[in-house]
Parts: sequence; structure tokens; C-alpha cells
Amino acid sequence: MPGETNALNNLFGGELLARMDRAASISAKRHAEKIVVTSSVNHVSFGKAIPIGTTVTIEAKVSRAFTTSMEVFIDVWVDDDKGKRIKANEAIYTFVAVDNDGRPTKIEKIHPETEEEQKRYDAALRRKQLSLVLAGKMNANDASELKALFS
Ligand SMILES: CC(C)(COP(=O)(O)OP(=O)(O)OC[C@H]1O[C@@H](n2cnc3c(N)ncnc32)[C@H](O)[C@@H]1OP(=O)(O)O)[C@@H](O)C(=O)NCCC(=O)NCCS
Repeated sequence: MPGETNALNNLFGGELLARMDRAASISAKRHAEKIVVTSSVNHVSFGKAIPIGTTVTIEAKVSRAFTTSMEVFIDVWVDDDKGKRIKANEAIYTFVAVDNDGRPTKIEKIHPETEEEQKRYDAALRRKQLSLVLAGKMNANDASELKALFS
């Protein structure tokens, strides 16, 4: 819509970020069955511009649940002229389940079923470690999964 686009009549990146955050929070809340908050945005790629008037579909799925945090993978699709869905963007957010006082609280694990779910699940731990290292919350020497990438 006009209020959501830039000078090139494409969707503002920030609009898409907010929509992805909402979709991801629904997915995280459904899994955790608790209040969830966005803890970090780990990755966003704006692969294709989304022109005004485009039909956009946002799919969000918990790719891995840790102790209190969850990685949520978001795929963004657009309809082409013939109504065929084309992958436009993807993003990865981290949510934390919290109690009524905002304190992190435990959640259930997830069990990947498809090949893609397994791939995303397996890579989630190293993404969590990278995010924690970049946030200054983990010593790089303790990031075993991440370090294994380079050995
Ligand atoms: C998210 C929040 C509850 C985490 O609190 P915290 O004191 O850092 O809690 P912890 O250190 O115990 O971390 C909780 C979990 O988040 C994970 N985590 C924290 N920071 C992270 C980061 N930058 N990247 C990935 N995971 C992170 C921790 O590893 C831990 O996961 P685990 O329990 O599954 O192992 C707190 O920072 C908060 O309330 N932030 C504001 C949230 C908000 O308002 N979001 C809306 C955007 S404005």
C-alpha cells in the first residue's frame, strides 16, 4: 500500500521487518504457549524488492527450541503475475518465552520432521552461538558448534 512503500514504490524494509516480527511472534507463542518477546534479529535478506500492490505471504516456523529461547525461521513469498508464489526474502529471529514478570521461562523442545526442518534445526545452535558471541554474551572460545565450521 502507498504508505508502506519507498520512493521506488517498493515495500519499506522496516515494514517487512515488523510484519515478519508479528508472524514470528505468533509462531513462537503457539509453540511456547507462553508470552514471548523478540530477543534478537539474527539474519535478514531482502533478496527481491516487493512492488506496491504485490500479494505477500509470510510463513514463520520455530526451527529449534532451546531452554527458554526459540529460533524462528521466516520465509517471505510473493505472487507473480500468474499467481505463482516466488520466494522473495527470508529472516531468522530469536524469541524468548517469559513469565508475567518478564523472566525467561522453560519451553518444550521441537522435533524436526522434514529434511529442511532438520537442516534448519541442526544449524540453529551455531546461529545461536554466533548471535551470543556478537552480543558479547558468550566467549568465542566456548562456541564449539561455531568453531567447528572453521576446522
Ligand atoms: C529477551 C530477554 C527476556 C532475555 O533476558 P536475559 O536476561 O538476557 O535472559 P538470559 O540471559 O537468561 O537469556 C534467555 C535466553 O535468551 C537467549 N539469548 C539472549 N540473548 C540472545 C541473543 N542476542 N541471541 C540469541 N539468543 C539470546 C539466551 O541464550 C537464553 O536462551 P536459552 O535459555 O534457550 O539457552 C530480555 O533481554 C528482554 O526482556 N529483552 C527485551 C525484549 C523486548 O522488549 N523485545 C521487543 C523489542 S523492543
